[in-house]
Amino acid sequence: MNRNSRLTDLFPSLDRIPEQYRLEGQTEQREYLVDGELRFWKGPLATVRSPVYLSTPNGDEQVILGSTPQLDSETALVALDAAVRAYDSGQGAWPTMRVAERIHHVEQFLSRMREQREAVVKLLMWEIGKNLKDSEKEFDRTCDYIVDTINALKQLDRRSSRFELEQGTLGQIRRVPLGVTLCMGPYNYPLNETFTTLIPALIMGNTVVFKPAKFGVLLIRPLLEAFRDSFPAGVINLIYGSGREVVSALMASGKVDIFAFIGTNKGASALKKLHPKPHRLRAALGLDAKNPGIVLPEVDLDNAVNEAVTGSLSFNGQRCTALKILFVHESVVDAFLDKFNAKLSALKPGMPWEPGVALTPLPEQGKTDYLNELVADAQAKGASVVNEGGGEVRGSFFFPAVLYPVSSDMRVYQEEQFGPVVPVVPYRGLKTVIDYVLQSDFGQQLSIFGKNSAEVGRLVDAFANQVGRININAQCQRGPDTYPFNGRKDSAEGTLSVHDALRVFSIRTLVATRFDESNKELVSSIIRNRESSFLTTDYIF
Ligand code: G3H
Repeated sequence: MNRNSRLTDLFPSLDRIPEQYRLEGQTEQREYLVDGELRFWKGPLATVRSPVYLSTPNGDEQVILGSTPQLDSETALVALDAAVRAYDSGQGAWPTMRVAERIHHVEQFLSRMREQREAVVKLLMWEIGKNLKDSEKEFDRTCDYIVDTINALKQLDRRSSRFELEQGTLGQIRRVPLGVTLCMGPYNYPLNETFTTLIPALIMGNTVVFKPAKFGVLLIRPLLEAFRDSFPAGVINLIYGSGREVVSALMASGKVDIFAFIGTNKGASALKKLHPKPHRLRAALGLDAKNPGIVLPEVDLDNAVNEAVTGSLSFNGQRCTALKILFVHESVVDAFLDKFNAKLSALKPGMPWEPGVALTPLPEQGKTDYLNELVADAQAKGASVVNEGGGEVRGSFFFPAVLYPVSSDMRVYQEEQFGPVVPVVPYRGLKTVIDYVLQSDFGQQLSIFGKNSAEVGRLVDAFANQVGRININAQCQRGPDTYPFNGRKDSAEGTLSVHDALRVFSIRTLVATRFDESNKELVSSIIRNRESSFLTTDYIF
């Protein structure tokens, strides 16, 4: 089958969609969650379009999935005030609640969330085009993350339940919440990445305003009631609308204490600047990246190709950790490209629910035009598309384009394509790659593929102060979630992992006293009579 005929049949007619994956009509969502109640929005709605088109007698037609509330800034501020009230300057029921009880609320939420697996997975496929296997993985990984977070907090709390004695000073140190958190996630992991900040923020006792990503919005709807029923009023509030309007108002109010945001560094900077007291604002940011894959002359080429294909093209390259540029030594570049293209041609394009599908349509309007611009720019400056069918477009679908030879004057050398374009740069001396990393605005991760220990060792040292993670003979990735996930320069602020996130969303408070008889008696009496939730030796099993 040649490439063209595969794209001809790409979009299905309605009757070709298996029944369990069909949607029953459009969803008009008007509910949003504020102060423990689902409120009904009577104002304008935003249309939710699917990346999926349907083949009809009139040609391909984009599926409209429904609509979501387009809240105004006054309404968003009402939600923020609910979070401010629930926090109540740290005196609210939630921030003062014993850790074991807060854990219980999160467990309640998790069990309600698990009931919605099928609904959320289906919407992940329809809203962002993620294939069935990866959509299921996103849901399950998020549930696992919540379980791991609960266990990590129990461990943390166990360590904090004991007193320390240093230089005659008796102390107890606990991590306590910081305040009101604004959580915003990305469209490529609208559930997982958002929850990796939302859940730690909540479980540490902060209150939250959560605005879903620009795509992957309807899939939060099946969780609204679980959120409402599992937490005290105002602890979690869900708002919808244009980021520019609603989020700007929230930041400008000065009432946000923690800004958890996954998106572009430009967006993050603009929003942070709106806060009237920036020194008060804590931020956990996951931002742009342009992770390079470096293929050395002495290399297990099959492994490098396997990792580079999945690294650059899983979920069509729409991962912040994707390999976004490949530097391949000139002595192996021809063989690398042959193997890469062979592997790529075996990737199956299709609809997210089809078995074995790897390449799917893209959710962003205008994305295929942008990718075409990158390709045209590279072609005008001497690169070619070297794989069969590369760059072919059908509606929202873009068949991956491998560009070779890419050079430093091309846009794709620096710009984060966040899509299925694979730039390959041939190099002779390692200085080219080292300079690229040193001069890059980004510093998330990179991958080194090679067998020569002297060369790999040299590169590890050259890059150790440049990026957050160096992968050897493996693609870049976030997991396992117990490992630190961070970035330098324009790529991130703060470090997330199951363990680190609990620290990001809290601060240590020390209660200290001189270790003498009367203070010993006072502290013992507080503990014995259970007169404090902070000063306690309770142990969570
Ligand atoms: O989009 C960025 C994600 O954090 C990447 O996670 O490496 O597991 O796909 P992943």
